[in-house]
Amino acid sequence: MSSLRSRLLFWLVALIAAVLIALGFLLGQLLKEFYTETINKRMEKEAKALAILLENEPLERIRTDLQEMGDELSSRITVLDRDGRVRFDSGRIAAISDKDHARIIRSILPTTTSARFSVIEKTDDVYYCLVPYGPSGQDGYVVVSTPTSSLKAVNERIWGVLISSLGMALVVIIALGWKIANQYMRPIEEATKVAFELEKGNYAARVPDGEYKEAGMLVRSINRLARHLQEMSRAREIQTDRLHTLIENVGSGLLFIDHRGHVFLINRAFQSQFHIDPSDALYRPYADVLPHRDIVRLIDEIFMTEAAMRRHMRLTVGIERKHFDVYGAPIIGKGAEWKGIVVVFHDITELKRLEQIRKDFVANVSHELKTPVTSIKGFAETLLDGAMKDEQALEHFLAIILKESERLQTLVEELLDLSKIEQQGFQLQWEEVNAAEIMEEAAAVFRQRAAAKRIALQVKAPPDLVIRGDRNRLKQILLNLLANAIAYTPEQGQVIVDAGETAQEVWLRVKDTGIGIEKKEIPRIFERFYRVDKARSRDSGGTGLGLSIVKHLVEAHHGSITVESEVGRGTVFTIHFPKPER
Ligand SMILES: Nc1ncnc2c1ncn2[C@@H]1O[C@H](COP(=O)(O)OP(=O)(O)OP(=O)(O)O)[C@@H](O)[C@H]1O
Ligand SMILES: [Mg+2]
Repeated sequence: MSSLRSRLLFWLVALIAAVLIALGFLLGQLLKEFYTETINKRMEKEAKALAILLENEPLERIRTDLQEMGDELSSRITVLDRDGRVRFDSGRIAAISDKDHARIIRSILPTTTSARFSVIEKTDDVYYCLVPYGPSGQDGYVVVSTPTSSLKAVNERIWGVLISSLGMALVVIIALGWKIANQYMRPIEEATKVAFELEKGNYAARVPDGEYKEAGMLVRSINRLARHLQEMSRAREIQTDRLHTLIENVGSGLLFIDHRGHVFLINRAFQSQFHIDPSDALYRPYADVLPHRDIVRLIDEIFMTEAAMRRHMRLTVGIERKHFDVYGAPIIGKGAEWKGIVVVFHDITELKRLEQIRKDFVANVSHELKTPVTSIKGFAETLLDGAMKDEQALEHFLAIILKESERLQTLVEELLDLSKIEQQGFQLQWEEVNAAEIMEEAAAVFRQRAAAKRIALQVKAPPDLVIRGDRNRLKQILLNLLANAIAYTPEQGQVIVDAGETAQEVWLRVKDTGIGIEKKEIPRIFERFYRVDKARSRDSGGTGLGLSIVKHLVEAHHGSITVESEVGRGTVFTIHFPKPER
């Protein structure tokens, strides 16, 4: 990231440094040449001046002057005759030995006399300038030699100035470049960073606020873009979430199959309906996954016909047999694009069960009504056929007809009562009811019947026990339980009604020493028309509705009923009423 800025900066600095170095070399070279030229000219002029002096004065007279001049000029002055023999020498001034000096002079002596002068840069250390003197330059040569130390110093200074000034320029340029790079590159870098984050799906990324000046527009639009993306993705998330929640929590099982025939989605309801683990089922061909041939066949058909279908299926799941209303439809996208199939499973087992109960109920009611009606009709016909002339038979048959019609009456009354209790708006007359009171009242109804069977009927109730409920309905519960207890207890048995309370509840109990109920029958005795042993119970004159009425009434009181029984020893029915929370 920052490499973009560093790279830019690096190349900028490299380019500028290269330009400055080249410039430095060029300037250095130019200055050096200029200076060398100046020195050469000066030495040439000095040598020419000495030549003029030697032309006008004999050498012997100006020896001391020459020596002084040499010292003054910081130069070595050497005078040669025409044949190159040294006639005067002002002496050593540089690190160059006399031998070398002589060799250099020999090497620069002009081969022809016509040469007027020559400037020779012999070594780096000393400059030599040779000028002929005398009329038309025939008397000899003047050689001036100067060490280049001053030139070197100047050169060094020039380089020093160049390097320091160019270095300073470089520093200034780098600083400027850095500032510009920051100003322009930083926002670009930040924006790039954010763009990368956006690409990765992190829509919360933003370019930090700052003074971006020229790049501000870029930064702002990137931030705007990020904000839009974030809003869009949030909206989409919410939508997906809603859809997901809907699919997961809808009561019906949902199965999606993609265009290749692979299971693409199953919701929670489907999983629990068919006990299928999504990890086993997803992304596999539906025929391998679905355990029921009927479903597979339905999907096959939809694939072939491309039409929606509805079926009723009875499927076995585990040990249960369930009923489903199955609706399958092809999913066709825009432009008739085949996307797959959706199948909805509506579990109607409960509905089926209720339907069955209703059917059973109607059958039971008709059956129960038929017996007394047939009996009444039969005896009435017999009487009409002449039996009524027989006084004894007449009385006997009429007694039977009365009994049967009473039975018919209780049946109808109980049915009416039951249907009333089952009505939705069934209301109880809530009040505080003294338990002992209703227990005594209920027991009183059966005293005679108990006495006839020589059954000891006892009521044991704490005098102040209070139950919140409907007095008449509570009594009805007790009457039903007591009727059963006395009906299903043989002679000389015992029936006890008692009551009590704990911290959470008030309980009522009807205990007998009767025939008892088999364990497997207990859950069924509360069903309508259910009697344990129809043939045996028929004698009791029961209809099988008593306990179902009891159960409904107890539930209307928000209570519950429990049964403990042992065949041949007796039965205990206990009713629990929750105490209102204080
Ligand atoms: N105390 C009991 N001892 C033994 N069996 C009982 C007792 N109470 C009920 N049962 C059994 O439960 C069955 C259902 O009782 P329920 O009171 O609903 O019907 P019923 O007594 O036969 O008829 P009714 O509608 O006249 O009460 C009875 O037929 C009987 O077999
Ligand atoms: Mg009964």
